[in-house]
Amino acid sequence: MEFGTAWIHSFLYLTFITTILFLLQTFFSHKLSLNHQNVTLKKHPVLPLRFNSDGTFKILQVADMHYGNGIMTRCRDVLDSEFDHCSDVNSTRFLKRMIEAEKPDFVAFTGDNIFGTSTVDAAESLFGVFGPAIESRLPWAAVLGNHDQESTMNREELMSFISLMDYSLSQTNPSVKDTSDPTKRRLVQDIDGFGNYNLRIWGAPGSHLANSSVLNLYFLDSGDRAIVDGVRTYGWIKESQLRWLRTLSQGCQGQDLDGDQSADVSSLLVKPPALAFFHIPIPEIRQRSFKEIIGQYQEYVACSSVNSGVWQTLVSMGDVKAVFIGHDHNNDFCGNLDGIWFCYGGGFGYHGYGKAGCPRRARVILAELGKGGKAWMGVQRIRTWKRLDDEELSKIDEHVLWTRGLQDD
Ligand SMILES: *[C@@H]1O[C@H](CO)[C@@H](O)[C@H](O)[C@H]1NC(C)=O
Ligand SMILES: *[C@@H]1O[C@H](CO)[C@@H](O)[C@H](O)[C@H]1NC(C)=O
Ligand SMILES: *[C@@H]1O[C@H](CO)[C@@H](O)[C@H](O)[C@H]1NC(C)=O
Repeated sequence: MEFGTAWIHSFLYLTFITTILFLLQTFFSHKLSLNHQNVTLKKHPVLPLRFNSDGTFKILQVADMHYGNGIMTRCRDVLDSEFDHCSDVNSTRFLKRMIEAEKPDFVAFTGDNIFGTSTVDAAESLFGVFGPAIESRLPWAAVLGNHDQESTMNREELMSFISLMDYSLSQTNPSVKDTSDPTKRRLVQDIDGFGNYNLRIWGAPGSHLANSSVLNLYFLDSGDRAIVDGVRTYGWIKESQLRWLRTLSQGCQGQDLDGDQSADVSSLLVKPPALAFFHIPIPEIRQRSFKEIIGQYQEYVACSSVNSGVWQTLVSMGDVKAVFIGHDHNNDFCGNLDGIWFCYGGGFGYHGYGKAGCPRRARVILAELGKGGKAWMGVQRIRTWKRLDDEELSKIDEHVLWTRGLQDD
């Protein structure tokens, strides 16, 4: 082995490698490096949420989407003739059709958005569920059911992920104004669950309520499962959540969001009506008889054995006119319990259980402003109906949930 030749070989080899690396760096690095790409920020809807200039605000409720892995996930409880060509894609298609037909201003997903036990990757499945709302650039929000956390994310992870998705208005924890410094917002830490938050819908543009909240939406985490005295049962809304809700509702009375003194004083003294959204029904829906019921009651109400006083809290608050729940897919009724309507969305997703031959369905909620002279005022009326996933998207069970001045105001 001659030392001189080996040295030259090594030198040439190193030069060659260096040249290759230099060329790669020069010509390809911009394609390989992430630094040159724009960072994708969350896309936000136009805020604040507000009524349209025609005086309406429309919400689409999607209950129990039960999404799995997309096209590979088969439908449950469909006719034998439908089974071969049915998957999660049918749930997506239904949501797209509903958005196109109703053109909602907001979509509320009331839990069991994904069916964890059938889901390989929670993140991917969540994109499947909320994709149609995001593609339509619609503001949307979600709460969790009892099945969402059964795959690769726990409830806290799910809510923070969902909160960061495009056009999502979901929040993991409520943020409240720090009274010592109104410009700062701090998180409320001592509240049970993940996904308790409030969204405010402002008055119509150009009206004297343009800078005030005229409709409140309360979202609550009703939990998943629990064992009480050794017996398995469903989750429930805890006292800490109800405390937060009561405080929030009291704070809504006479609020002036902008500190604008010119707004009509009388309008500010009225607590705006509110709607609540959560997944698991409350015991009163099973125990008590309804003053009025519209829609199908064809399944046992699967609520928690614990009654934490949700109904009494809502009655004492006075602003909640209707509550929208899911969980029991074969129930799609609205039942009136002493002035508050409790409405099931009706099973939406094809991978959730249902009844073969009975179309999946979705609920629509329409809030309408009253007119004072020429200008829009506060909410005058709230109506609801459902649509079936049949050829015509048949509209069923339309009725009024609340009219100002008729029931209790
Ligand atoms: C990156 O952002 C700039 C400025 O907003 C934009 O002009 C450009 O098209 C973006 N590039 C890509 C690859 O999205
Ligand atoms: C599911 O979607 C496929 C393809 O669009 C369609 O042919 C089929 O009828 C749908 N099934 C149901 C039950 O809606
Ligand atoms: C609402 O706020 C906007 C912007 O601050 C202001 O121009 C407008 O006059 C306000 N309207 C009312 C009714 O207070």
